[in-house]
Amino acid sequence: MPIRKVGVLGCGLMGSGIAQVAAQSGFPTAVLEATPALVEAGMKRITRFLDGGVAKGKVTPADRDATLQRLKAGTDPAALADCDLVVEAITENLGAKRETFARIEPHLKAETILASNTSSLSITEMAAATARPTRFVGLHFFNPVPLMKLVEVVRTVQTAPGVEESVAEFALALGKTPIRTTDRTGFIVNRLLVPYLLDAIRAVEEGVGSIADIDAGMKLGCGHPMGPLTLNDLVGIDTTYSISQIMFDEFKEKRFAAPPLMKRMVMAGFLGRKSGRGFYDYATEPPKPNDFLTGLGEVSR
Ligand code: CAA
Repeated sequence: MPIRKVGVLGCGLMGSGIAQVAAQSGFPTAVLEATPALVEAGMKRITRFLDGGVAKGKVTPADRDATLQRLKAGTDPAALADCDLVVEAITENLGAKRETFARIEPHLKAETILASNTSSLSITEMAAATARPTRFVGLHFFNPVPLMKLVEVVRTVQTAPGVEESVAEFALALGKTPIRTTDRTGFIVNRLLVPYLLDAIRAVEEGVGSIADIDAGMKLGCGHPMGPLTLNDLVGIDTTYSISQIMFDEFKEKRFAAPPLMKRMVMAGFLGRKSGRGFYDYATEPPKPNDFLTGLGEVSR
């Protein structure tokens, strides 16, 4: 079934990116948020990104305006009535996701495909909570969505033939490269990435090197676009913490266990870029390493 109209549930960091790329690729896109304030914040985020693209010469003013026109954001699930694909990108909480599916499903066409952008929860478990488990897949985007080329397409043992193909074609229409995977916690990328991010935190804890040197090591030594501690800050310390807990719970392997420093950072509200401080302090440009975390920072007198 060709996908013509798209719905996106949630307009936070990931949802706003997904909605933006769908609209930018020509799809009329309905965005659903929980409150008018969240609708406004999400649309502001999209507008800011598009304006940034215009300033960098990557987006024309006409494209920006056409993209914004294709986006209809609100709080009423009735707006999803004619969508062929609805992508869920709300908070990583199974209960909240189930409640959202129950609220929107009565408004959807029988053929509508539901997809979840979850990075670690079970697609099969989510699908089972809906009335359309055969038309349910994972569609996992990467942060920042408008710039990252990959999408993981996740099938379950129940996914009907053709559904995975329709969704993979949609990813191609967004200019992304789809890779296919099965419903195993973490899929392909997080299975490999999460232990790496956690190990970088363990290296800080064990005093292997400074924050800046650990990042420079992987950036310059391995050609990564950013070091692992900068990437931890980009993804969000709380997000990776919660993914690691789900993965540890599933596999019971030490490589997925969150280091104590990470837990303390979450408790202290050092969540990375979004809270202004994580492994780096974003009050200055360029951000300064938060060496206070390692006991190397100076106490101001
Ligand atoms: N609109 C359009 N284009 C834009 C833009 C905007 N607002 N902002 C930047 N760009 C373009 C730039 O013009 C540039 O284009 P060229 O390559 O053609 O010059 C490109 O995007 C890169 O931008 P910058 O030069 O400003 O920044 P950068 O080179 O430092 O790249 C980055 C930024 C793409 C984020 C890069 O650092 C990177 O790839 N980092 C790794 C990110 C990553 O690993 N993400 C995955 C996280 S894990 C996840 O998301 C999954 C999960 O489940 C946890």
